[in-house]
Amino acid sequence: MAVNRRQFLQTGLATLAGLALPLSWGKPARAATPAVREYHLVAQPAKVSLGPGPEFTAWTYNGQVPGPEIRVRQGETIRVLLENRLEEPTTIHWHGVPLPNPMDGVPGVTQDPVPPGGRFVYEFVASHPGTFIYHSHVGYQLDQGLYGSLIVEPAQPESGHDREYSLLLEDWATVDGGGPAAPRRRPPSGMGMGGMGMGGMGGMGMGGMMGRRGGGGGPLWEPYYNAYAVNGRAGAAVTPLRVRRGQRVLLRLANVSSATIYHLRLAGHALTIRACDANSVRPMETDVLRIGMGERYDVEFLADNPGRWWLAAWDSGLGESGLRVPVVYEEVADGPLQEPDFQRGFRMANYWDLRAALPHEPPDNAQGVVFDQVLSGGMMGSPYWTINGEVYPQSAQLPVRRGQVVRLSYFNRSMMPHPMHLHGHFFRVVNPGLARALWPAKDTIIVDAMRRVEVEFLADNPGNWFHHCHNLYHMVAGMANLVAYLPDA
Ligand code: C2O
Ligand code: CU
Repeated sequence: MAVNRRQFLQTGLATLAGLALPLSWGKPARAATPAVREYHLVAQPAKVSLGPGPEFTAWTYNGQVPGPEIRVRQGETIRVLLENRLEEPTTIHWHGVPLPNPMDGVPGVTQDPVPPGGRFVYEFVASHPGTFIYHSHVGYQLDQGLYGSLIVEPAQPESGHDREYSLLLEDWATVDGGGPAAPRRRPPSGMGMGGMGMGGMGGMGMGGMMGRRGGGGGPLWEPYYNAYAVNGRAGAAVTPLRVRRGQRVLLRLANVSSATIYHLRLAGHALTIRACDANSVRPMETDVLRIGMGERYDVEFLADNPGRWWLAAWDSGLGESGLRVPVVYEEVADGPLQEPDFQRGFRMANYWDLRAALPHEPPDNAQGVVFDQVLSGGMMGSPYWTINGEVYPQSAQLPVRRGQVVRLSYFNRSMMPHPMHLHGHFFRVVNPGLARALWPAKDTIIVDAMRRVEVEFLADNPGNWFHHCHNLYHMVAGMANLVAYLPDA
């Protein structure tokens, strides 16, 4: 998928009127060494189709949703030339990647946003293998289509699976402009009504009152989505995963949705979790996998049950348009696809079942610091979401020093789950019942309603790092703050 500049100019990617890439764009032109992988991403509106339903205008990288997959080997340098052909500023964030702060893509924090017509060169070493995503970090652009998958293959190729598929899970409002332009909006739960019907009415009435883009109102409530896509295809258009009996199949699952948590099950098969958020875990079998916005799981299954099966999400309420992907054995030519069973007993692994694959050296906790993070908001239909009662950018920073062990102690006082994401670091999921060396590492963790969850990270990557709920509508509505490194003493 990597293209060089010449291929880029020859393909249809650059069909925009007046698009001319100077040959000296970014760094001086020179032959890329094998260790540098160069990509060009042009942020631009484009007509897209998820398969079923009419075309609509999404915001895309290179005219496609999702954007091109970036796939490199650990240790290689990723260089991305971003060109902004939108009418708004934009940036790209490399979600989950531990990289130098100036490359992190957070507008107003790590860089000035790239203005319309502007360009920016992102460059960093892909030092950590695993499944990542990239996406715009400006406004609601994530929910308009500006994202793609980023895969770093391990330096030592791993054997053990015969086939690999990478699946981006996407929620869509299929109207021009995507999620932020959706006509029907969902009031936060916690108003004392949970029903779809009432929520829908409230969404229609008050969503309008809350103001459209540019209307000067408060932040938007999340939309009702009308399609769920896998790699940009929905419904009957989803590309089936083909397997053969006896194969070990690796699925790299990444939830790039703006506001949807999925519970996935593959009919006829168990799933074995191999990694969460790009960190290996001891193989852990589960029937149902829960995956929040911003989370990634590498799961494996053994194809030992020939047939035609759905890998499907539970209860999206959309039937055929819910999130689902066919898994078909090549030796079984046709026949109906079997649905997974969400009614009877099944196993669902949670964070506290996971153990790091390789025990790590627990850092000396002598210089620990703890920050309480109370998550709240959405009460009485308020459009604001808060950490410790504060709305970003007014929220207090979390000051840390290099070398400290930092604990974030979340308490979710609201009635909605919040997938909390920290930039630039992996944290470990605190599990007092388990040797610290085995706590699994992640960068995004769902904090459920009325629950307490703690994570801990070593402050080893100086800068100002965004920390926020990965429900896009909660993030824009204030549920964010900064982990800010103090100068070294
Ligand atoms: Cu994937 Cu700050 O985000
Ligand atoms: Cu949230």
